[in-house]
Amino acid sequence: MISLENSTRSIHSHSHSQHNQGVHATVSKLADQQPDQSELCEKPFEQLVKQIRHEFTFSQPDGTFGNSQAIEDLLNRYINEGHKDWNEYAFFCPYGYSRNLVACGEQFELMVICWAKGQVSPIHNHEGQRCWMACAKGQLQETQFLFENTMSTHGEGKLLESQVTTIDEGSVGYITDEIALHVIQSLEPVSVSIHLYSKPIYECNIYCPTTGKITRKKLGYYTQYKEHSPNHNKPILCQQE
Ligand SMILES: [Fe+2]
Repeated sequence: MISLENSTRSIHSHSHSQHNQGVHATVSKLADQQPDQSELCEKPFEQLVKQIRHEFTFSQPDGTFGNSQAIEDLLNRYINEGHKDWNEYAFFCPYGYSRNLVACGEQFELMVICWAKGQVSPIHNHEGQRCWMACAKGQLQETQFLFENTMSTHGEGKLLESQVTTIDEGSVGYITDEIALHVIQSLEPVSVSIHLYSKPIYECNIYCPTTGKITRKKLGYYTQYKEHSPNHNKPILCQQE
C-alpha cells in the first residue's frame, strides 16, 4: 500500500511539473495501463513471499512431498540477488538463536532465523514436514544425526553423527525426517538464514544424543511480523492470508 501511494505521488508530481493538463491526462492514462503498479513497487522479500504462496497454492497442493526445485530456485535466486530487505525481520536474541516469523499459511511458514556464534539448536526432527534453509548472511554448519541401532531417524539409544556440512552464504539446504535429525549452528560471528517449512511446525521432538530420550518442544517466535512476541507459540492472525 505504501509503495502504491509512493508510486502515485511520483506520477502526480511529474504531471504538475509540466503545468499541462494534456500531459497530465496522458500520464494518468499510462499509469492506468500499468499491469500491476503495486507489484512493481513491492520489496523483493515481499515478492518472494508472494511467489512462495503462489507455488504452494497452485503447484504444490496439500500433501505434496519431496524436495521442490521450484522452491529451492525461488530461495536461491532471492539470496543471490543481493537483496537486504530480509534485514527488516532480523532480530537477534542474546539468549539463543531467534525465530522471526515473516509469513505463514496452511501450507507453509517462512521465518528469518538469526544466529550469533555459539547459538546452537538442539538435535531435532521436523515432524514429517519439509524444511529449506537459505543462508542469507554468514555461514551455518549442519550436523546430521541418526539412531545408531537403526541408522534412521526412528530408533532407540545413542545417536550417531552421520554427516557434517556447511551451508554457505548464498546456498540453500534441505532436510526432512527421511534424511536425518539435525543441529544447526553458526560458524561466523553472525549468521542469518531464511527458513521455509511446509507445512508449519508448531512442536517438534528434541533428542538427547547419548540416550536418545525424546522430549517435546513447543516452538515459539521471537518476533512475528516484526513485532516482539515473547508469549506466543502460535502465529497470530496470518496477516497476508
Ligand atoms: Fe531444523
